[in-house]
Amino acid sequence: MKSALNLTRAPRKQIDMSNASKTETPLNTADSLRLAMRGLAKSVTLISTTGESGQRHVMAASAVTPVSMEPPSVLFCVNRNASSYPALFAGADFCVNVLAQCHLDLAHYCSVGAKGESRFDQGTWLKDESGLPYLADAQAAIICTQDYRLPYGSHDVFFGLVSTVHFGCEIDPLVYADGAYIGLADQALIP
Ligand SMILES: Cc1cc2nc3c(=O)[nH]c(=O)nc-3n(C[C@H](O)[C@H](O)[C@H](O)COP(=O)(O)O)c2cc1C
Repeated sequence: MKSALNLTRAPRKQIDMSNASKTETPLNTADSLRLAMRGLAKSVTLISTTGESGQRHVMAASAVTPVSMEPPSVLFCVNRNASSYPALFAGADFCVNVLAQCHLDLAHYCSVGAKGESRFDQGTWLKDESGLPYLADAQAAIICTQDYRLPYGSHDVFFGLVSTVHFGCEIDPLVYADGAYIGLADQALIP
C-alpha cells in the first residue's frame, strides 16, 4: 500500500527536557512521564481481534513488548476506553500486526481516521484458521492466544501466547517518536 501522507520527520519543537523540573510551574508526574515517553521511540503495530458476536476490531498500539521465548509470548497495554477492550476483556485472542512505513495511512486510520469495522476497509486483511483477522503485508503478523490479563491504572495488560507468525514484507519499521511517525535511517550505527 503506497502512503499518501508525507513520511518525513515533523519539525522539531525544541523541548528542553533538562528544565522540565525547574520551571515556575513544574510539570506534574503524569505530564513529566508523557514528556519523557516522547523520547522513547516505539514501533507501531495494529492489534486485531474478533468479538464474541463475530465483530472485528483493530487499533493502533505501540505499548507492545515481547515477554519471553519460553514460551514465545508478547504483551500489550490497552486503555479500557478503547472500542477493542470489551472483546479483549471477554478473552478474545488477538494478532499483533507489526507495521512498515508503507502502512502510515493505515496506522492513522486505525487510531483516529475511522471507527469500528470500517477500519478494515483499508489494507489487505486475511483470516487465520481460527477466524482472527491479520494484515497480509505486515512485517510480521503475530497470532496469539490470550493467556493472561492484568489490570493496572487506566489500562489492562494482555499477555498472548504466540501460536503462529506470518511474514508479509521486508523490515522497514514504522516508528512513533516525539509525537510523530518517523522511519528509520537505512544504515545501522556501528559503535
Ligand atoms: C502511534 C499510536 C500508538 C498507540 N498506542 C496505543 C497503545 O499502546 N494502547 C492504547 O490503548 N492505545 C494506543 N493508541 C491509541 C489507540 O490507537 C486509539 O485510542 C484507539 O484506536 C481508540 O479508538 P477506538 O476506541 O475508537 O478504537 C495509540 C495511537 C497511536 C496513534
